[in-house]
Amino acid sequence: MTRTYKVVVLPGDGVGREVVPETIKVLQAAGDVANGFNFEFIEFPCGGKYYKETGKEWPEEAWEACKKSDAILFGAIGWPGAIKPGGALAGIDILLGMRFSLDLYANLRPAKLYEGIDSRILGKSSKDVNFIVVRENTEGLYVPIRGTLDRGGVEELAVDVRVITRKGAERIIRHAFDLCMRRGGAPADGKKRVTCVDKSNVLEGCRLFRKIYDEIAENYREIERDYVYVDAMTQWMIRAPEHYDVVVTSNFQGDILSDLSSVLIGGMGMAPSANVGEKYGMFEPVHGSAPDIAGQNKANPMGSILSGKMMLEWLALKHRDTSCEKAASIIEDAVAQVLIEGKRRTPDLCYGRYAGLTPSTTSEVGDAIVEKIEASSF
Ligand code: IPM
Ligand code: MN
Repeated sequence: MTRTYKVVVLPGDGVGREVVPETIKVLQAAGDVANGFNFEFIEFPCGGKYYKETGKEWPEEAWEACKKSDAILFGAIGWPGAIKPGGALAGIDILLGMRFSLDLYANLRPAKLYEGIDSRILGKSSKDVNFIVVRENTEGLYVPIRGTLDRGGVEELAVDVRVITRKGAERIIRHAFDLCMRRGGAPADGKKRVTCVDKSNVLEGCRLFRKIYDEIAENYREIERDYVYVDAMTQWMIRAPEHYDVVVTSNFQGDILSDLSSVLIGGMGMAPSANVGEKYGMFEPVHGSAPDIAGQNKANPMGSILSGKMMLEWLALKHRDTSCEKAASIIEDAVAQVLIEGKRRTPDLCYGRYAGLTPSTTSEVGDAIVEKIEASSF
């Protein structure tokens, strides 16, 4: 019997509303070619703009639907002026709420430079950049244990507590090692390597994290151990990206490193991500809602489309569904071909060799990928 995957679609704000429809188009096309499963897409509005219009961040049914979903496709949240009482960005509770409530403890952020994109780092090419940041997603500085203190009407103090637990560290580090086993190793030497990024020269939580890393590494003898402090990592990642294969780190550090890594792959428009746990998965481009270019059909849909590809890979693994695996590689091949051909790209990729090119729109890039998928020989 053909399996039907229920996918909740939350385009959210700004360019999220432009890149997500392209992703659905592409997923549908790849599903048709792979021919072994169906999608049922269920879409809901949400985010800052929706909050301004309705006073709610999302409809209640959306949350119920997420809990019944096979996967969630997310765009972006954040809209100018959409601030909740107390100062929080309207929509942020959807994103963080899903990560915590659905226990999406692993935030996977690949940094892969495709041929046909010029590296912004001198001397690096697609042969050098293919690592993945495995960011812990349910603790660290993101636990909602924080507060402020007013004395005599003066805002005197603000505290954010950084929590590292044995359970949290164990499961993310194990996830990183398991993922490493399925990958091809670091570009520099083909070695399987999991790099532990921390600040264990200063922070207790990081010392525990590193200790647990060592315990888990014992069970993966074919994987090389590697340690680097997070401050040093910001330069090594740029100077020698070819050394890295899987990079595992705590929440806030992973947040920063994953934005930094996007510089290596053509910018934030190219960066996909997966937020996954034992039961649920949510897939979103790393970029935000980009209100400055929203509504102009010029955002790069590839970060979102490649997040869709990650969704298929996750479904493939979870349900042992080889047709999802096939659809995922069809999508990646199509994106790679469009990039190598070099004719269709959004303005963010029109630099270097492509500086003189007339930029394509978001939907033209989506169409170009769909064309490749339909022509693919699977
Ligand atoms: C990200 C974003 C979020 C985060 C924000 C929007 C809460 O920066 O997904 O990296 O900090 O995790
Ligand atoms: Mn971030």
